[in-house]
Amino acid sequence: MITLTICNHKGGTGKTTTAIHIAAALGLSGHRVLVIDLDPQGFLTRVMGVPEPPEEHSVLALFDPARSLREVRRHTVGGFDLLPSSTAMTRVMRQLNRPTDVLWAKEALEQSGLDYDVVLFDTAAAITVYSLNALVASQHVLVPVTPEYQPVLGAEQTAQTVQLVREKLNPTLFPPLFLFTQVDARKRAHQLYRRYMRRRYGDRVLEAVIRTSASLARSYEDGSTVFTREPYSRGARDYANVTDELMRRILQDREAGAVPNWSAPAPPLQEMRP
Ligand SMILES: Nc1ncnc2c1ncn2[C@@H]1O[C@H](COP(=O)(O)OP(=O)(O)OP(=O)(O)O)[C@@H](O)[C@H]1O
Ligand SMILES: [Mg+2]
Repeated sequence: MITLTICNHKGGTGKTTTAIHIAAALGLSGHRVLVIDLDPQGFLTRVMGVPEPPEEHSVLALFDPARSLREVRRHTVGGFDLLPSSTAMTRVMRQLNRPTDVLWAKEALEQSGLDYDVVLFDTAAAITVYSLNALVASQHVLVPVTPEYQPVLGAEQTAQTVQLVREKLNPTLFPPLFLFTQVDARKRAHQLYRRYMRRRYGDRVLEAVIRTSASLARSYEDGSTVFTREPYSRGARDYANVTDELMRRILQDREAGAVPNWSAPAPPLQEMRP
C-alpha cells in the first residue's frame, strides 16, 4: 500500500485540487484509492459533494480508539473512496495535545486491515496535529508549489518539517517530491522559481507540471472532476501526466529499498527572491 501526504505550509498552492485529481486519475487506471481529508476546512469533502458527516463517520474516527476504520462509512466519489472531514475537527484538535497523538492515523490505518493500493492524505496549510498524523502515517510526500515567492518559501519550510518528522517520528519517510502547480510559463518569476527549486532539490522536482487552467479553477461541489467534466482539457491532461510521473517516481523510491538517510537543504536561501 502506497501512503502519500500532500502538503505545503502555504495556502492555496493546489493541494486539494492535486489530491482530488491524482486520486481520480489513479481510480481511472484501476487503482483502489482512499483519500483522507485531514483539513478541518473540508474543502475536498465539500467539492466532492459529500455533506457534513456525523462525527463518528468522519476522519475523527481515526482518533477514537473505540472505532475501527472498517466500520466507518466511506463515500465513493470521482473514482475513489473518501473519508470525509468534519467541522468538529477544530474542537477535537484542542484535546489532541499529548505527544502520542501524532500516531493515531498510522495505527488506525494499520489496524483496519484495509488494503487500498494508494492512501492519500489532504492536509491544511499549517503544521497541526492532523498534518503531523498524515506525515507519520505516510511513506511519501508530495509538495504542490506555485512558482512564486510565498509558496516556494512554504515548500522549503515543509521540506524542513518532513525531515524533522523523519528524524523524530517516522524513519520510513522518503524525501519529498515537489510539483509545480498553476504554472504560467510566460511569467518570468515562474521560470526563475522553477530553476531555483531545481537547483535546490534536483530531481525531486517533478518534470511534469500543472499549468493554470480554467477547468481547474472552477469548483462544482457535485463530486465531478476535470476527468468527467472536461476530459480533453489542459487540466485533465496535466494531471494524467503528473500522476504517471509521480507513480513512476514513488515506485523507483520503493524499489531502491531502504529510505536513504536524507536531509533537506539548509533553510531557504537569502537570494531566493528573484
Ligand atoms: N492549475 C490551476 N489553475 C487554475 N486554478 C487552480 C489550479 N489549481 C488550483 N486552482 C484553484 O486555486 C484555488 C486553490 O486551490 P486548492 O484549494 O487546491 O489549494 P490548497 O493548497 O488546497 O488550498 P488550502 O491551503 O486553502 O487548502 C482553488 O480555487 C482552485 O480551484
Ligand atoms: Mg486545500
